Amino acid sequence: MPDVVQNRATPGDPAIGRVVATRVCTASKKAAGIVRHVEIDISGTPLAGTFRSGQSFGVLPPGENERGKPHKLRLYSIASPTRGEDGSGSVLATTVKRLIDEDWESHRLFTGVASNYLCDLSEGDEVRVTGPAGKRFVLPEDPSSHDYVFFATGTGIAPFRGMLGDLAAGGVSSRAALVMGAPYATDLLYDAEMRELEAEHDWFTYLPTVSRHGPTPGAVGGWGPSYVDGRVSPDAPGGEQLIELLAGERTLVYVCGIAGMELGVFQAMARELASEALSGYLTVADDAGEPSDWSRRMIPRQLRPTKRTFLEVY
Ligand code: FDA
Repeated sequence: MPDVVQNRATPGDPAIGRVVATRVCTASKKAAGIVRHVEIDISGTPLAGTFRSGQSFGVLPPGENERGKPHKLRLYSIASPTRGEDGSGSVLATTVKRLIDEDWESHRLFTGVASNYLCDLSEGDEVRVTGPAGKRFVLPEDPSSHDYVFFATGTGIAPFRGMLGDLAAGGVSSRAALVMGAPYATDLLYDAEMRELEAEHDWFTYLPTVSRHGPTPGAVGGWGPSYVDGRVSPDAPGGEQLIELLAGERTLVYVCGIAGMELGVFQAMARELASEALSGYLTVADDAGEPSDWSRRMIPRQLRPTKRTFLEVY
């Protein structure tokens, strides 16, 4: 893995960024969830030019929590390639989902602090940021010596948008597949951008996958609904090629998005890959039992990801 820079700006001494763009990035404005693509100019701060695709940064919302303490920072994945949105690492983007829920006790509307603060910001507004954060969820030092399977749900696509931007710019001789999951077709993020990338680059395969309503857009034969792990099947459109890519010895698997999604991915790989290929990604303990009986709490003791597996679930 490459050396990465971390913590150039800290909560005690944050950098002041400025929002330069903000837009809805779901496939439709009628999406069930509200997700925005927010770009922040960090030029002139210690963060400028330091981040790599796949890393995160911190946001310090203003104000205090219910105990009168300043709000703590929240992490957001960088959705930009290493060169940033501007080409020189001075503008980073993220993909933020507004946390909106009902408070179970008071049955009042519950709105997450940082996600709604970020989504409410307008162009020109200042924002306190920290980071970069994270050192393992990045591309390897020599990206062209590997192939990639990226599994994303929701805002988990953010780091992969950045990594794919790096791969496209590097002119590398890699293959890459992105399996992107969303509840409904309207919730797919950066959908048009990913389709464009696929049309421009024959090394890249985009596999959007919709879980609550079928069939999945772009999939032939009226396939779906399915979770992302459902693509790892010879019966799914593109599934055979995906399994062949996963069986390759130089392939790396990255999983980002909703906590728990990694279990389904592991189970699907165990179902479809020969044990030797599976062992490249996952060390399965002798007492782990059948994949269909695996549970999330077996990770990482009985189901231990290897060096070729990268997880960032939240
Ligand atoms: P806030 O922190 O205010 O609220 C969330 C908390 O409220 C939770 O603890 C939950 O238990 C509680 N809660 C939720 N619903 C409730 C209800 N109805 N009643 C009472 N309590 C309730 N997010 C994103 O959008 N894009 C990204 O790219 C990333 N990337 C990322 C990377 C990494 C490494 C991590 C660890 C996390 C992310 N996140 C993210 C998630 C992000 O950091 C943050 O957790 C969410 O945006 C929610 O933060 P808020 O401040 O909005 O909610």
